[in-house]
Amino acid sequence: MSQRDIFLAGEGDAYFRRNASGYAPERADANPLPLQTVRNYLRPGQRVLEIGCANGLNLERLRRDPGCTGSGIDPSAAAIEAGRQAFPALDLQVGTADQLPFADASFDLVWFGFCLYVIDRPLLPRVVAEADRVLKDGGFLAIVDFDPDAPVRRRYSHAAGVNSFKTDHARMFLGFPQYVLAEKRPFSHSAEGWDADPGERLAVQVLAKNNAGGYAPLESA
Ligand SMILES: C[S@@+](CC[C@H](N)C(=O)[O-])C[C@H]1O[C@@H](n2cnc3c(N)ncnc32)[C@H](O)[C@@H]1O
Repeated sequence: MSQRDIFLAGEGDAYFRRNASGYAPERADANPLPLQTVRNYLRPGQRVLEIGCANGLNLERLRRDPGCTGSGIDPSAAAIEAGRQAFPALDLQVGTADQLPFADASFDLVWFGFCLYVIDRPLLPRVVAEADRVLKDGGFLAIVDFDPDAPVRRRYSHAAGVNSFKTDHARMFLGFPQYVLAEKRPFSHSAEGWDADPGERLAVQVLAKNNAGGYAPLESA
């Protein structure tokens, strides 16, 4: 079974139940480093998509400040239902990163928050294409994930047949000339800043998309 199908079949719900206290609606006023960073790239009224959003807690934070419209997708029906109850202003849907039910160029910012590391490797090209498809030209892509100095695969301890793939996923997008790195901030689960254990090192990365960018203008003859 693919990792996507394992999450759809119940691991998404199990993750949400195991971590329910971290997604409590009362935590919507917290301002962790990824939020602080992503907020700098948003203005009131802009549209944000979080891929792997759990109950949409991050989106609710961005709805309150700076006043964005939030959409989210997650394979967990339990998380999505809890989010619809707690945060009715958000548009939350059950689904997966490889097939986004959104129109082309419909978001100002697309956010992968600790999601890419559990995506099946064969699905990555499709996931990149889907995120790029729904992100507007001139928009931003945020990736919050593990950031080891070399790729590390570890068995995901909560479900058989699932691996954590820890690698710098921003490089997939940065291979295209229209994506440039706007900002990268390392942090760790225990503190802001550099984690001495490369397997646990985390980073927030923000990439700017500019379809006309990446090329020096031709000199006229
Ligand atoms: C570690 S949690 C992070 C949740 C939230 N983004 C955050 O930052 O707290 C990873 C989330 O990704 C979801 N997920 C797993 N596989 C996915 C897939 N193929 N497409 C989209 N989301 C997925 C899980 O259900 C889970 O809610």
